[in-house]
Amino acid sequence: MPETFEVGLLGHGTVGSAFAELLEERAPQIEAITGLRPRLGGVLTRSRGDFDEILATADLIVEVMGGVEPAREYVLRALRAGRHVVTANKQLLARHGEELWAAAREHQVQLRFEAAVGGVVPVIRVLQESLAAAHIDRVTGIVNGTTNFILSEMARTGQTFQEALAEAQRLGYAEADPTEDVNGADAAAKMAILARLAFDTPVHLDQVAYEGIEHITPDDLEYARDLGLGLKLIGTAERIDGGLSVRVHPAFLYAGHPLASVNGPFNAVTIESPAITEITLSGPGAGGPQTASAVLGDVISAMIPPASTPETSQRLEIVTDVESAFYLHLEVDDRPGVLARVADALGSQGVSVKSVVQKGLGEQARLVMVVHRVAESRFFAAVDEISRLDFMRARPRFIRVVEEEFGV
Ligand SMILES: NC(=O)c1ccc[n+]([C@@H]2O[C@H](COP(=O)([O-])OP(=O)(O)OC[C@H]3O[C@@H](n4cnc5c(N)ncnc54)[C@H](OP(=O)(O)O)[C@@H]3O)[C@@H](O)[C@H]2O)c1
Repeated sequence: MPETFEVGLLGHGTVGSAFAELLEERAPQIEAITGLRPRLGGVLTRSRGDFDEILATADLIVEVMGGVEPAREYVLRALRAGRHVVTANKQLLARHGEELWAAAREHQVQLRFEAAVGGVVPVIRVLQESLAAAHIDRVTGIVNGTTNFILSEMARTGQTFQEALAEAQRLGYAEADPTEDVNGADAAAKMAILARLAFDTPVHLDQVAYEGIEHITPDDLEYARDLGLGLKLIGTAERIDGGLSVRVHPAFLYAGHPLASVNGPFNAVTIESPAITEITLSGPGAGGPQTASAVLGDVISAMIPPASTPETSQRLEIVTDVESAFYLHLEVDDRPGVLARVADALGSQGVSVKSVVQKGLGEQARLVMVVHRVAESRFFAAVDEISRLDFMRARPRFIRVVEEEFGV
């Protein structure tokens, strides 16, 4: 009889139940790869199972409960008891990753988390293993499938945010409570984890500035199309002046950008490094069976000899005022001199205009423009000045634009 390897399961919801099925189905192949026969041990939900009993006999714990507590306590206790842990919990890692990784190192066990970022896209493995020796300059990602689906639908059909969200919920791409997806918090947690790995420096969720997509309107997408731009919720982690900026916000991309063609409930991450130029990984963003497959991949890796997340060796300063190009949308009175005064306000802060679309609407006009890269603080100061001009009909609206086109 082969030696067995017992997996204790914390959580039996969308991911946990799919994982339990997959583990049973794939057990013979896993045995062939590892020489050990995996077996599902105890299962914990709110109404069944006991953590101490599960831990006592498990060789490895899979945490797919979600939430910060008691997940943190259980993961820590498992690591301290010398058990490998596989988790899909990005909020937990983005808040308490350093503590958990340190416990794993101290107790010489593995803490694996491929399913926490990028759905099935194996970006964690690529950063930790394939690119472990590369000096990475920037990681850019579409790391939330729900918001990518919503923005794709808004662009494709002209639907409002609320209509596209309802469609996402109907198709199972959005949770009943989609708050953390649409306000950018989910993507921010994933970017904190990616930044930590790519730049070898501690990054806490609180250091990630984020903005969601709730305020995006169909006409933002329509005008942007005229300017050759498509809208995505983009996470960026990049070196700036010896420091690090990590942020999530909606941003327009030109068609040549590797992330511009990622539509629907998909995820993609672009990694830029002088050694590799640029690679983009993409694939399905989430879903029970897909996430369970990433979790099972981690379980198999943990069954064969170790890879640990080493202690960080850098202490990069977190940079908050970064440069960006912007799309700017102004509703103004249709009278002479307006454009010149807008240009003055922009010019006074060193903001220069790249392209403008102007539409007259009776007494009112709409100015939609893209401005070149500038420090965000200067752009915001110019917008503040513009918002106080007497011909403004509504608050200025703006969205960041990613200018790089890559290989075109
Ligand atoms: N769903 C996805 O596509 C996806 C993708 C990537 C990552 N993830 C991550 O995977 C994790 C699980 O997500 P999910 O969608 O499977 O969640 P879910 O369907 O809500 O399932 C959560 C499971 O955990 C159990 N649970 C929650 N709190 C508990 C507690 N305090 N004590 C004991 N059991 C508890 C629940 O028990 P009851 O059944 O008793 O309520 C349920 O069985 C989350 O961290 C999520 O971010 C999910």
